[in-house]
Amino acid sequence: MGRIAYVNGRFVPQGEAVVHIEDRGYQFADAVYEVWALFDGKLADAEGHFARLERSLSELAIPMPMTRAALTLVLKEAVRRNRVREGLLYLQVSRGVAPRDHAFPNPAVRPAVIMTVSATDRIASEARAAKGVSVVTTPENRWGRCDIKTVSLLPNALAKQKARAAGAAEAWFVDELGFVTEGASSNAWIVDEDGRLRTRDTNANILRGITRGSLLEVIRHEGLEVDERPFTPADALAAKEAFITGAGTLVLPVIAVDGKPVGEGKPGPVAAKLRRLYIEQAKAAAI
Ligand code: PDD
Repeated sequence: MGRIAYVNGRFVPQGEAVVHIEDRGYQFADAVYEVWALFDGKLADAEGHFARLERSLSELAIPMPMTRAALTLVLKEAVRRNRVREGLLYLQVSRGVAPRDHAFPNPAVRPAVIMTVSATDRIASEARAAKGVSVVTTPENRWGRCDIKTVSLLPNALAKQKARAAGAAEAWFVDELGFVTEGASSNAWIVDEDGRLRTRDTNANILRGITRGSLLEVIRHEGLEVDERPFTPADALAAKEAFITGAGTLVLPVIAVDGKPVGEGKPGPVAAKLRRLYIEQAKAAAI
């Protein structure tokens, strides 16, 4: 069955789905997005992603294109029409279409909305998680508002390509003080030498990952120690374990940084357990 996309109020075969050449998302990256993991056709961490969408839009003074209730219905309809059970749901909202001018159109125009759904091979992703992945480091070169989930992803795309060229799955940005900020499309974690979980705090210039937030709740529920404190690539190499989190990767063990092994160079028990617990709770809470 062919994929079905949503474009501004219509469901259309994805091959025929088009947006306007003067869409401000296309010309200025003046757009935000969200990605939900789908478990059994349901949206994982729905509330968190809606809240971040509303925040990203409001930081850019783009109105919500429809109410949250209406948006939920359309998102679910997109999933239903694509008959995807395990996968990803992508939503993008741009400021809209207007003659090219850097400043916002005045009067404001209607935001442009697109959605796509893709299937994930969950067996293949479990196999990948069982093996673990490598990451490479790269200098942090993004703008100062990485907390807004904009489609302005060129540095992230370049970083991911650097990783791919090195045979790695992810790139970790490293700031001018030598600390890891986050991955090109994930948040970064370690289980440090003392067995304490560590991830960058959200006062830093990073995306407040929804998977990160849900995993913190799981961790606290389990009574594990966690420090929202920066770490360096050297800390990661000295750590017992490392992993990344995101809607695309869930919780994915990292076994090497810049070609050097983390811990024993294989996935450790903490990441494996957290992956299992995160998936369990996300499945139970999915809508
Ligand atoms: N990326 N950091 C960055 C830069 C990201 O792009 C993402 C998500 C995350 C993790 O956020 P969350 O847990 O809310 O998915 C962190 C999505 C999946 C993407 O760009 O496809």
